[in-house]
Amino acid sequence: MDTMTATTPAATANTAATASHAEGLGDESSIWFKLSPLLKSDDNPMAVLMRMSQKYGGAISINMGNQRILLLSEPDNFKHVLVSNANNYEKYFDGLRPVFGKSMITHDGALWQKIRMPQQPAFHPAMFDDYVPYFVQAINEKMARWEKLAESGEEFEMVEQTWTLAADMICKALFDRDMPFNPHFIFKCVKTYTDVTNHKSIRLKKNADDDFEVTDASAAKAMETWWEVPDLVLNAEPREHREKTLLKMIEAAVADESIPEFDKQQAEDEFKQYLWAGTETTALTLAWAMYLTSVDPAAADRIRREGEEVIGDRDPTAADYSKLVYTRAVIQETMRLYPPIWGLIRVAVEADEIGGKEVKPGDRVVMFAYGAHHDPRFWDEPEEFRPERWMGDAAKKRQKYTYIPFGGGRRSCIGGAMSQVENTLALSILLRRFKPEYVGEGVPSISATVTLTPRGGLNFKVKNLD
Ligand code: HEM
Repeated sequence: MDTMTATTPAATANTAATASHAEGLGDESSIWFKLSPLLKSDDNPMAVLMRMSQKYGGAISINMGNQRILLLSEPDNFKHVLVSNANNYEKYFDGLRPVFGKSMITHDGALWQKIRMPQQPAFHPAMFDDYVPYFVQAINEKMARWEKLAESGEEFEMVEQTWTLAADMICKALFDRDMPFNPHFIFKCVKTYTDVTNHKSIRLKKNADDDFEVTDASAAKAMETWWEVPDLVLNAEPREHREKTLLKMIEAAVADESIPEFDKQQAEDEFKQYLWAGTETTALTLAWAMYLTSVDPAAADRIRREGEEVIGDRDPTAADYSKLVYTRAVIQETMRLYPPIWGLIRVAVEADEIGGKEVKPGDRVVMFAYGAHHDPRFWDEPEEFRPERWMGDAAKKRQKYTYIPFGGGRRSCIGGAMSQVENTLALSILLRRFKPEYVGEGVPSISATVTLTPRGGLNFKVKNLD
């Protein structure tokens, strides 16, 4: 379905605004622009920030043009910003508003609370029993696709595969819809926009000789397409007319006169938020887990054995999730090595001090999650893939805030626990039926923009194990 041509009046009216927003991500005033020189590297852009943290400590003040950035990599400093003095640190979303609109992830204070509250029950673990059958349906549909890939022996890109799976799981379980859009096309549009380091203004300044891939016009066009998606979801035929879904909770919030802020536009923006924040992150984790287990066949076999013992030949249930101890540890270890959100960003409201460094109002604070996840003070052999570190007593004794794939404090990820159920079940089921083989050249390089992605993707072939 090519929605690029189906432009609504709302989208057309917003095009001018988008063009300026499209510049925002790679604009000189954007933190993404300011960080981009530090994130340029041939294979691991995180290495520069790691070296800086090791050399200068857990709180580093960096002056970039007229903007001060505080780079934090010490767990106590994460706690300060996320919990102890959270009121002083607001969310930073400049340039990302076209993707998220005014969804809850972009708000602070009382308004954020009003928007989050009516949706929170959809993510309570008690709901997972309801969701698991729909996750499994989406996984089964993905298996049918992989059967064909196994038959033809063709190469494919793993993140594309896991992203469509993550989106289908959310549409089925949370919205009671089959995915009413072409995910490959839609997510390409989002990626066009969020691939910050390719934005025109950055590339013009930093890489004058390169061809640029993302122009303002293409980014604006990509966002126009993205804005069509909420209506496609809302107007699609419900699969089963279920009453207890996130979509129903959002509709009830729109109808609730006591929260006038939760209007129709808010509802549409919430959909955008879930379809991006709730899918790319989950997809990256599963794709990296496929890579790590394909180069560690013993880990893949252990996952298969655990699946046979715990689930056998029946359909999995939510109760199986907690028994898939090793598979779940693989997912946790994957998010340690490759945290999809490598850095959390806030803006300081008032003056403060962190780790002995002065904070001025307006300073951008970057919490370097990847740095803490790879710090040898907290992890033995931090670069090694060792799922076992998540099993048994060692995991319980770990220092707090050394591992923050879902953020922390009151603004931590609403869907974190659910994503672990999705990914644990998907990894278990897919690996029992298939042998995915990474066919890329050498260890994949990473690219750090808003998310941590494999540069150029993760190329795979898949074999049927039956
Ligand atoms: C592996 C999967 C995921 C990862 C690594 C992840 C990561 C994160 C992180 C780090 C934050 C906090 C950002 C900050 O403090 O600046 C966040 C917030 C959020 N995530 Fe996730 N996420 C994942 C899956 C999901 C899923 C499945 C959903 C929903 C379907 C979701 C929806 C959200 C929302 C709505 C917020 C904003 C919460 C708020 O501001 O109150 N995420 N996520």
